[in-house]
Amino acid sequence: MRVINSIGQDQAVKAMAEIIYDHLMSHPKTIIGVATGNTMIPVYAELAEMLQKNSLDLSLVRWFALDEYIGVPSNHKSSFRSYLIKHLVIPLKIDESNLSLPAADLAYEGAIKTAGGIDLQLLGVGVNGHIGFNEPGSLKNSRTRIVDLDSKTLESNKPDLKDLAEIPTQAISMGVGTILEAKKIILLATGSSKREAIHHLLQYSDRKESPVTYLKNHDDFILIADELALPEEYLKL
Ligand code: GLP
Repeated sequence: MRVINSIGQDQAVKAMAEIIYDHLMSHPKTIIGVATGNTMIPVYAELAEMLQKNSLDLSLVRWFALDEYIGVPSNHKSSFRSYLIKHLVIPLKIDESNLSLPAADLAYEGAIKTAGGIDLQLLGVGVNGHIGFNEPGSLKNSRTRIVDLDSKTLESNKPDLKDLAEIPTQAISMGVGTILEAKKIILLATGSSKREAIHHLLQYSDRKESPVTYLKNHDDFILIADELALPEEYLKL
């Protein structure tokens, strides 16, 4: 695990966008796993700005979403599909047919394999240590599947779901095992609400109570965190 310790959210966002940009520049056929969540919004915006200044051919890049709610129509503004269209597809001028979202477990795993496997996986982290929607209790070898959402997740995602008649209680998520097969993984954590999850990641490995800890021993894992997300004792890392 490599830790990039940033001062402020802006610096952390720039660090992540630069790694993604450099990767896309040197690997024009990248298969990239993409996260949703508020943390990633400025990263995609920064990337769009970088591409505007120095454009790259993204026509051969394939984008695979980490997860999607069950029961939220895909064209509803609260779906992850809508999020990715708004924050990724439109600003980065991506051909929408190059974006896939999980719909049926085995088919999704198959589509990732057929594409050649994930080269670069982008992640945020939940306040309870979830990655994708792999909630506490998820196993290291779990695959893409339907999951029950944790009450803490529902609480923190509530603002994005307020316009729905019914709040989703389930989602379909790439599994921990699916995520760990990515060749390179970058996780961005900003803000004090992520400090506990990051503390667990730095302290432990392979704890099912905090799935983010499964990333610790991945061969090419970069954690980018701002000073609010990084517990004080690690600020000098
Ligand atoms: C979401 C997604 C995750 C995301 C996490 C954190 O609901 N399933 O992929 O990383 O929760 O979200 P945020 O960045 O809004 O804190």
